Amino acid sequence: MSQSRQDWRINFAISLVATVISGFFIDRTLRHLLGPTSNAKAPAAQDAVRRFKARKPDVDLDHLNEHELLIMAEVIAPEDINVSFEDIGGLESIISDLRESVLYPLTMPSFFTQNSPLLHAPTGVLLYGPPGCGKTMLAKALASESSATFINIKISSILDKWFGESNKIVAGIFSLAHKLQPSIIFIDEIDSFLRERSKSDHEVMSMLKAEFMTLWDGLTTEGRIMVLGATNRPNDIDSAFLRRMPKRFSIKLPNPEQRKRILKLMLNGTELEPNFDFDAVIAKMAGLSGSDIKEVCRDAAMVPAREYFRDNYVDGKPKVNNADKKIKMRPLRTSDFFADTHAAHGWDNRRTQPAEASLD
Ligand SMILES: Nc1ncnc2c1ncn2[C@@H]1O[C@H](COP(=O)(O)OP(=O)(O)OP(=O)(O)O)[C@@H](O)[C@H]1O
Ligand SMILES: [Mg+2]
Repeated sequence: MSQSRQDWRINFAISLVATVISGFFIDRTLRHLLGPTSNAKAPAAQDAVRRFKARKPDVDLDHLNEHELLIMAEVIAPEDINVSFEDIGGLESIISDLRESVLYPLTMPSFFTQNSPLLHAPTGVLLYGPPGCGKTMLAKALASESSATFINIKISSILDKWFGESNKIVAGIFSLAHKLQPSIIFIDEIDSFLRERSKSDHEVMSMLKAEFMTLWDGLTTEGRIMVLGATNRPNDIDSAFLRRMPKRFSIKLPNPEQRKRILKLMLNGTELEPNFDFDAVIAKMAGLSGSDIKEVCRDAAMVPAREYFRDNYVDGKPKVNNADKKIKMRPLRTSDFFADTHAAHGWDNRRTQPAEASLD
C-alpha cells in the first residue's frame, strides 16, 4: 500500500473520530441549552425544590429527572395562594363535601380505609359549571388549605414548548406526584386537553391522551394521588376521561341566598349607607355569576369615586392643595347599583350563559 494512501486513511479516521466526538458534545450542549429544564423555569424549579424541602424535609428531592424538575416549577406552595375558603361566597356545602369526600381521604387515608375499603379518595374529581362561578377559586383554596402537594398543570404551555417531549413530561407529572404524595394534579380548563378524541387529532396529542389515561389508571386506591379538573364545557370532555372523574361537583350560577353571601364578601371593607338595601341589589343581580357580581360592585363603587373627583378636581388637579388630608368619599348607596353606568354597560350583557355547563 502506498504511503499517500495510508496517510489518507489515517486522516480520514482521525476526522471521523473528531466529527463523532464533536457531534456528541454539540448534541449534549444543545440538549442542555434547549432541554426542558434549561429555560427560565430552571431557577423556578430549583426555588420550588428548596421551598418544598423546607416544608417537607423527609421527601427525597435530590434524584428528580429533568422532566420531573420541569413539573416541580408548577408545584404551588400554600403560602403563595392568596385565596382561602373564607373568600368564597355561597359554596359552603360544596366546600364541606370537598373537604370530607376528597381532602380528608387523600390526606388521612388510614383513618378511612380502616373502617371500609370503599372509603378511599377518588382518583379523579371534576369541578364544572358556567364561567366565573368560582371553580378555579375553589381549586386554589383547596391548594392553600390542603397539606397535599398541589401540582398546577398548564397543558397548553407544555404542548407549546415541548411538543416532542410531551409524553415524557406527562410521565414526569405522575412520577413527581407519586414522589410527593399526597398530591393533587390540577388541570384547569381540562376540556382543552381531554376533549373528545377524534381522527383529526395530531398523532402526538393522541399518544399524550393515551399515556395520560394509562398513568391515571395506574393510580391505585392505596396511592394518594388525585387528578382534579375544572371546566365550563364538561360536554366536550371525552367520555372515557369523564368516567375517570366519578366525583363531580356542579358549581352553578348563584341563587339569591348565594348572591347575598357573595355580595357581602365583595362589599366587605367598603362603607355602606346605613339603610343599604341588599335585597333590592340581589334581586337585580339575578342570573349573574360571582365574577359578574364583582364587576358590578366595582362599577357601583366608581360612582362615589367619580363624584369625589368631579367635586374636588379641575383638569386633573385638586381644587385645593389637600395632600395631607385623608381622602374621604361618601358611603356606597343602594342607588349606586342602579346608576346610569350599569344601564350603559348593560346588566343583561353581563349575564353569564349557563347553557354549556351541564352534565345533569
Ligand atoms: N362564589 C364566589 N365567591 C366569591 N368570589 C367569586 C365567586 N365566584 C366567582 N368569584 C369571583 O370571580 C372571579 C372568577 O372566578 P373563577 O376564576 O373561580 O371562575 P371559574 O368558575 O373558574 O370561571 P371559568 O370557567 O371562566 O374559568 C374570582 O376571582 C372571584 O373574584
Ligand atoms: Mg376557571
